[in-house]
Amino acid sequence: MAEHLSQSELDYPFKLLEYINGFRVSKVIFSACELGVFDLLLKSQTPLHAENVAQELGTSVDGIERLLDALVGVNILEVELIDGTACYSSTDVANLYLAKGSAKSLYDMIIYYSQTVYPLWNNMVDAVKDGENQNEKTFGISSEEIFQAIYRSEEEMLKFMGLMNSTWVLDGRDVSTAFNLSCFKSIVDLGGCSGALARELSRAYPSSLVTVLDLPKVVQLARQHFDEQNDTIMFQEGDFFNGDIPPADLYILARILHDWKEDKCLKLLKMIHARCQPGGGVLLVEALLFENHRGPVMAQLFSLNMLVQTEGKENPPSRYSNMLSSAGFQNIQVCRTGKSYDAILALK
Ligand SMILES: C[S@@+](CC[C@H](N)C(=O)[O-])C[C@H]1O[C@@H](n2cnc3c(N)ncnc32)[C@H](O)[C@@H]1O
Repeated sequence: MAEHLSQSELDYPFKLLEYINGFRVSKVIFSACELGVFDLLLKSQTPLHAENVAQELGTSVDGIERLLDALVGVNILEVELIDGTACYSSTDVANLYLAKGSAKSLYDMIIYYSQTVYPLWNNMVDAVKDGENQNEKTFGISSEEIFQAIYRSEEEMLKFMGLMNSTWVLDGRDVSTAFNLSCFKSIVDLGGCSGALARELSRAYPSSLVTVLDLPKVVQLARQHFDEQNDTIMFQEGDFFNGDIPPADLYILARILHDWKEDKCLKLLKMIHARCQPGGGVLLVEALLFENHRGPVMAQLFSLNMLVQTEGKENPPSRYSNMLSSAGFQNIQVCRTGKSYDAILALK
C-alpha cells in the first residue's frame, strides 16, 4: 500500500475506493475457498463453464458466475470466451496458494480468517472504544482467559492450529535463517503449536534437537493431525506460565509476546532467562512495527487483530528490546526479513 494517498486522489479517489472495498475482495476469496472453487479448477483438465462449476459445487449458476467473474477481475482466475460462453480456469498463483492440497496452501489461514477473524473484526468499533478484545461479544465466550476463548471447541482449536501452521509455509525459512542459529544444539519452541516453525528450524539446523512445548490438548492434537512421516522434532506438554520450561540452548517465542500484556511478557522472559545458561538465548519472532508509526501496514493490521482477539499488541523493536533488557538479556540483534514476520535474537 502507498505510504501517502497521492494528490491525484483528490480528482478521483481510486486508491481510497480500493481500500474501502477491500473487505469485499477478501470475502470473494474466502467464499471461493470455502466452496472449493480452486480445488475444482485445479483438478479439471479443461476450463469450466459456470454451469459445470455450479453443478459440481452445488451452487446457483448465477451466484457462482458472479463469484468467478469477480475472481477474474482481481486476476486470481482466467477466463476465455468460447462460442460466446465464458470458460474459467485457474492461475498458477491460485493453484499454489489457494487450492487446499498444495504444499504452499493458505487454505487453513483463509478459513480461520473467514469464520473467526471476520466476525471479530465486525466488532472493531467496540474494540477500539473499550480497548478490549471482542471474544465475548462475538462468540459469547468470557474473554478473561484468552486461550480458553480461542480454544472454545476442539474444532476451533484445530482451525487455529491450521492458521498457525500455514504462516510458516510462507515465512518459516526466512525467520529460521534470519540469524545463524547453528551453535544452539538444543532448541525449545515455547508455544510452538502444530510444530510448523520447529520443523523449519530442524530443516535449517539438522544437527540441533528441536522440541515444541505447548498446552497438553494442543500437543495431543498436533500429534494426531499435524504429524509428519519421519518427523525430526519432539513434542512436550506443559504450561510456560507455570514454569514448565525445559533446559535448552535457545528458546523460541514466535507470536507469543504479542498475545499478552507487558507484565506477563516480562514474567515469561524472566523465567526463560533464569533457565538459560550463559551463552544461551531467546529468539523472538514477531511482526515488527516501525518506530515512526508509519508501518508496515501488515503489522499495524495484525496489531488491530490482537486488539479484537487477545490482550496483547504488535510492537516496534525498541519495546521488545526494553523487555528483553529488563529480563536480563543482552547482545540484542534485530533482523527485519521484509516479509510478514521478523526476528530478534538476545543472549544471556
Ligand atoms: C499465537 S499462538 C503462536 C503459535 C506458534 N508459536 C506460531 O507462531 O505459529 C500462541 C501459542 O501459545 C500457546 N500457549 C498459550 N498459552 C500457553 C501456556 N500457558 N503454555 C504453553 N503454551 C501456551 C498456544 O497454545 C499457541 O500454540
